[in-house]
Amino acid sequence: MLEQPTMVKIYAIAEESPGVKTFFFKWNLLFDPGQFVMVWIPALDEKPFTISYMQKDIMGISVLKRGAFTNALHAKKTGDIIGIRGPYGKGFRLHTNSNACVVGGGIGMASLATVVDRSSDVIVIQGARTASEIIYQKRFQGMKLCTEDGTAGFKGTSVDLLRELLKTHNLNKVYTCGPEKMLYKVFELCKNHGIDCEVSLDRYMKCGFGICGQCDCSGQRVCVDGPVFTTLELNTLEDFGKTTILKTGERVKLRI
Ligand SMILES: Cc1cc2nc3c(=O)[nH]c(=O)nc-3n(C[C@H](O)[C@H](O)[C@H](O)COP(=O)(O)OP(=O)(O)OC[C@H]3O[C@@H](n4cnc5c(N)ncnc54)[C@H](O)[C@@H]3O)c2cc1C
Ligand code: FES
Repeated sequence: MLEQPTMVKIYAIAEESPGVKTFFFKWNLLFDPGQFVMVWIPALDEKPFTISYMQKDIMGISVLKRGAFTNALHAKKTGDIIGIRGPYGKGFRLHTNSNACVVGGGIGMASLATVVDRSSDVIVIQGARTASEIIYQKRFQGMKLCTEDGTAGFKGTSVDLLRELLKTHNLNKVYTCGPEKMLYKVFELCKNHGIDCEVSLDRYMKCGFGICGQCDCSGQRVCVDGPVFTTLELNTLEDFGKTTILKTGERVKLRI
């Protein structure tokens, strides 16, 4: 684990959708699927991103364009230099590969991409609001897609599609990442069906390695104790699906 950023050159950039780009770096980083890195743009900020790609000595992060930081990242070109430190946190525990399913919502699919790469046989559900937001179409060709507006695949959310899938499939493991509202529903559904579930939580992070307390979730620091939590752990996290902490430090209720 590195606590100083390593300055790395952007080796290549791929457009995954109109709003998402994957940035590749020549860096052979040892990591577990679900772990993240802190990305630094000097004189701007530092933000967390999951490692979404690792093949031979090329690692990648997939970035959804949202605000100041991700806009600045999207404006970068091949050959530009940024800082990266990590990997951080606890990733997915990939014990059971048979009858497993990953359930991704929006950019949460980035966190699950290397779970799929390292699993021999896993069902992949990707949910998006609309067809143009779907990512990794070429990378994972057998994906089960769903969109809220019905423009690609099943019409509905990834929770709805998982519920449909459970009518015909016996799953024994679900890995999920996406908006907390969706994660909570996936977790509840799995609990009702007796399926073991691992959830990657997305909390506002500052230091990324356990010092500032910004990412607290019921006494657990999501950056070091997570971001991936198991069913056993989630059962003890009162704040999961209920409250989160804004960047100002204010604790607010989540609307499920
Ligand atoms: C463990 C982890 C892994 C992540 N992996 C990815 C990824 O692979 N791809 C991706 O596109 N995004 C990922 N994110 C979210 C990413 O960090 C934010 O999208 C990014 O920081 C937005 O910054 P911004 O300035 O562009 O937008 P802002 O306008 O500042 O914020 C837009 C949204 O991003 C969230 N966000 C902003 N800053 C942070 C922060 N420091 N920590 C967490 N969330 C923040 C805000 O809560 C807000 O909802 C991850 C977040 C976490 C916690
Ligand atoms: S982000 Fe600082 S403790 Fe987690």
